[in-house]
Amino acid sequence: MNDSTAQSAAVKKAEHATRAADALVLFGITGDLAKKMLLPALYQLVRDEKWDVPIVGVTRGGWSVERLREHARDSVTQSGAVDEEAFGRFSDLLGLATIDYDDPSSFRSIAEQIKGCEFVAHYLAVPPQLYAKAAACLAAVDLADNARLVVEKPFGHDLESARALQGELAKHFPEDRIRRVDHYLGKDAVEDLLTIRFANNMLRALMYRDHVSSVQVTMAENFDVADRGGFYDATGALRDVVQNHMLQMLAYLVMESPRTDAPEDILDERARALRAVRTVQRADLVRGQYEGFQDVQGVRPVSTTETYAALRTYVDSDRWSGVPFVLRTGKALTASATEILVELNKVSPDSYYTACSQDAAPNLIRFRISPDAGVTFDLLAQHEGNAQRVDPVSATVDFTHLTGSGTAAYRLVLGDAVSGDPRRFTRMDMVEESWRIVEEILDSDVMPSVYRVGSWGPAEADALTEGGWYLPSVARATDES
Ligand code: BG6
Repeated sequence: MNDSTAQSAAVKKAEHATRAADALVLFGITGDLAKKMLLPALYQLVRDEKWDVPIVGVTRGGWSVERLREHARDSVTQSGAVDEEAFGRFSDLLGLATIDYDDPSSFRSIAEQIKGCEFVAHYLAVPPQLYAKAAACLAAVDLADNARLVVEKPFGHDLESARALQGELAKHFPEDRIRRVDHYLGKDAVEDLLTIRFANNMLRALMYRDHVSSVQVTMAENFDVADRGGFYDATGALRDVVQNHMLQMLAYLVMESPRTDAPEDILDERARALRAVRTVQRADLVRGQYEGFQDVQGVRPVSTTETYAALRTYVDSDRWSGVPFVLRTGKALTASATEILVELNKVSPDSYYTACSQDAAPNLIRFRISPDAGVTFDLLAQHEGNAQRVDPVSATVDFTHLTGSGTAAYRLVLGDAVSGDPRRFTRMDMVEESWRIVEEILDSDVMPSVYRVGSWGPAEADALTEGGWYLPSVARATDES
């Protein structure tokens, strides 16, 4: 290759990486994720943002485009009121291609649907076992070169399988044309951690080991695994939400300020943050399983899968060195709440307020992701009429313009899958780091501690913290009422 050919190849590559697609090819359009999240999110994009990108649904057969449109209507109706004019536009954008994974030539049906398109986004909302096959079949009919590949989570089930999967996909799609979805990265309330931390000087200075004594991250759900028994039994809490959603939130919490707002700078800082998170050791893990999990359809009767996990780790960076980070998640807990709580050091023993404040609760900064996005500051104020005593007070700021809802997250994710902006996706180096962080604790044949449905999980998890877990704001509000 001479210099100018090499240069134009490099320019083409760079343009391809973030190029906007002029069609969305959606594998798994008849599946559960599409029904609950993707179709409502796409409809909302068409309704609110005048989206006009053709959407080609890919199925394995037995569907007509009319049936697909009916299905889309059901799904949109279930998620809220339908604006007929907008739904008409959405429905007109839907097309259908029928494929057979064992017959790559069947993928030509996709080509027929995207005639005239120059660059497309293939979105795989299908079981991960099909990712490599789908990529190979797309390449076999020349649909990989002018395209981006978007894959849902999970990406592998451990470090080794993630690398093997990457090896397969990379045969047909270079890394900068692969997008790995973690819908938590599409949540405004998660992404906003960056703005709250770095746009507000009052927080910027505080989020440092000199001031912070510990950090607690809770992702609690008050519902059980419902009809996902088979999937969940094979997955467990660590793989379902810790390796991905929780570690991505943690990355936003601990990362340094990106050099610029360019996607690569943000991605680089998030990756660097994950590299600093210490590999979790077994002694720093508590696993739980809710009572009755083994009776759920699809779950093995002697399943040792965890429906709850709590762990402790450290972030070995100049900013966070020595601060314990404890994370917990679980199904069938008391409340649904995702909250990051930063516990500040108490005032110095030499200070004026020592006498009264040493027994009082420390200041807390609670970054609330859901159900209501915002920040709550737990502070101390003087007791009425007595300057020698302090009372706890809470200052709550609601970010009513931000949401942590799944559909809203998928609107951004789908929008970016098409626009090409990579910042809200997981890069391969992050996938590798996040599997590395949990690799020592992933599989265990030991029965987890059984906990009561509607509780806060196994009591042993308290030992991972200095003084126990704080109740998330929403649960505290209920508790006090
Ligand atoms: C999914 C997990 O990725 O995230 C589910 O598979 C979990 O088990 C869900 O309930 C939580 O997402 P959200 O947006 O409802 O907090």
